[in-house]
Amino acid sequence: MSTPQTRLRMGRRAYRLAVPPETGRVHDMPSGNAFYVTTPIYYVNDAPHVGHAYTTVAADAIARYQRLAGREVHFLTGLDEHGQKVLRAAQARGVDPQQHVDELSRPFQDLWRRLGISNDDFIRTTEPRHKAVVQRVLQELHDRGEIYPQSYAGWYSTAEERFWMEKDLVDGKCPLSGQPVEWIEERNWFFRMGKYRDRLASWIDAHPDFLRPESRRNEVLGYLKQDLGDLCISRPKARLPWGIPLPFAPDWVTYVWFDALLNYVSAIGYGTDPERFRRFWPASFHLVGKDILTTHAVYWSTMLFALGLDPADCLFAHGWWTIEGRKMSKTLRNVVDPNLLLDAYGPDAVRYFLLREVSFGADGDFSHRAFQVRYNADLANDFGNLAHRALSMTERWLGGTVPPRVEITAADRDLERLAVETVAAVRTAMEALRFQEALAGTWALVQAGNKYIDTEQPWTLHREGRADRLATVMRNVLEVCRVAAVLVWPVCPDKAEALLAKLGTHLPRSLDRLAGFDVLPAGTPVAAGAPLFPRMTELPPAILAVLEGSGPAKEGVPVVSESQEERISYEDFARLRLVVGTVMAAERHPKADRLLVLSIDLGEPAPRTVVAGIADRYRPEELQGMQVVVVANLKPVTLRGIRSDGMILAAGGDSVQGLLGIAHPVPPGTVVR
Ligand code: MSP
Repeated sequence: MSTPQTRLRMGRRAYRLAVPPETGRVHDMPSGNAFYVTTPIYYVNDAPHVGHAYTTVAADAIARYQRLAGREVHFLTGLDEHGQKVLRAAQARGVDPQQHVDELSRPFQDLWRRLGISNDDFIRTTEPRHKAVVQRVLQELHDRGEIYPQSYAGWYSTAEERFWMEKDLVDGKCPLSGQPVEWIEERNWFFRMGKYRDRLASWIDAHPDFLRPESRRNEVLGYLKQDLGDLCISRPKARLPWGIPLPFAPDWVTYVWFDALLNYVSAIGYGTDPERFRRFWPASFHLVGKDILTTHAVYWSTMLFALGLDPADCLFAHGWWTIEGRKMSKTLRNVVDPNLLLDAYGPDAVRYFLLREVSFGADGDFSHRAFQVRYNADLANDFGNLAHRALSMTERWLGGTVPPRVEITAADRDLERLAVETVAAVRTAMEALRFQEALAGTWALVQAGNKYIDTEQPWTLHREGRADRLATVMRNVLEVCRVAAVLVWPVCPDKAEALLAKLGTHLPRSLDRLAGFDVLPAGTPVAAGAPLFPRMTELPPAILAVLEGSGPAKEGVPVVSESQEERISYEDFARLRLVVGTVMAAERHPKADRLLVLSIDLGEPAPRTVVAGIADRYRPEELQGMQVVVVANLKPVTLRGIRSDGMILAAGGDSVQGLLGIAHPVPPGTVVR
């Protein structure tokens, strides 16, 4: 049976051979052992937060796992240093943009060091090596007619850095940010993205592992059903001076996404080091958050097609973290600084929590209490305890050296078999980025090790003087510790290495034969030392301060005082027609990640279509059958091409936290007063 990852790896070869006729170029196959993983490059407009740490930790676990599996790994991360957002951040600090990016790049690099990130390269888009590639690509595409100039006019939203059509505006303002828009007429340069739409759709069809998880694949295929326009890839220098100048039109700079996406190839020598480039391209995995799936799946893939290159083997879009049930945002002042977590818990616990708590691909909630529960249950109790019991009993009763295996029972064989099966299962899960499953599998082995100690009772064996059996039991437990340490190493490298050192060994060169129970040489000295993960009885003071609201990441929305608030009359309120509706169907908006399109029964002859900005909080399937409160007499608006006839009420303002519902079912159309 082919598992996803075998298909993926076989696919790497098979698909490389099938060169689509349109490229007209035959690519050399990348060397079979090379493995290239990337993170998005982060905007240097602020300090890194837990969302940035998440992708980087996931990529690091993949890179470490693949190195252990014997692949030649290249792990790239870096910073996106051009564009409006970064320029604005520099202006807000009153510093020159280059000085700003130089200064703000440090907290990112420091954080990666503290988190134990083992990236092989760190790219910054202001580096000459990157700028040169961007300009070469622009020139090449321009020369081949893939980039053309055109005048354009439209409503420009500075907040969203994009143009809107008149019909898209809400009350004359940007439909996404609610901020004012201005009419701008300008000449710009466009990349012929639209012509690659069918090719991209066929590519996605032919490469089932290209977009993952599966739901993301459907999202992109849905997006491609619409007409795919060309992509404006320039900004006039007069409006935005901070970017890479177009080589053929120096009064324009490159659009920040066109610039940033090229980091994935500029860093591995595209156009400058063909051998290195061939070795690592196509990338094995691009990891991205779900909000930047379209830019990667559509802009980046079509850019690669235009260059005659294949897209990465897999573009994996992970979910978003909420913080204590709320969207992480500066206005809520609940942004989690990973440094705070590192101070309190250390890197391995942070890495473990992020990858264990939610399935990679799904959204998750970060809560300090949940962190503490997981820390104590999984790390201190299960894993830390197994290691401490195994090592201290060996010290106490066996002279502190690895004992030989003497007589092997059925229970011993079961434990060894479980270790062999666990290694295989963890390998499968790690290849497919199912970190949660890999860790749960390792923990089942750890728990089996603890249970084995409980049933075999080494203390009784010691008391009864059954030295051979005691030796075998302790040896098996030490081997379980070793196997678990190696398996957990990609996620918790420091503690894994510390445990291996306590066992008198080190990380193996290869994962083959990892699970045998005869690996530790008998007679090797072991040392229990301090517990790996000391139990936490109270939350660390810095974390308590945050939870109690006195810390740096203090929670809570600003309160509007009575005197500032405008009061309305009952008559004003009564003008609103609020009614209960039942959601009949919901789907993602084909053109906007944050919007869902709902079909709602209001007891009228036909259901209403309502477009709602709730996709960050709800999946379409969750809404089916739900009763919601609808503002039924709102003027219809068109949101990204779909007419929305009404509005649903939700708690949380800009960042939706929950829909207003009805305690008991009522007929659709029931008035709310
Ligand atoms: N600069 C672009 C990426 C260009 S890649 C060629 C960018 N940068 S970003 O700094 O805004 O975001 C980087 C990543 O952080 C995105 O993948 C985004 O999904 C992720 N996250 C931001 N907030 C997050 C959470 N709350 N939770 C999980 N990931 C989050 O976009």
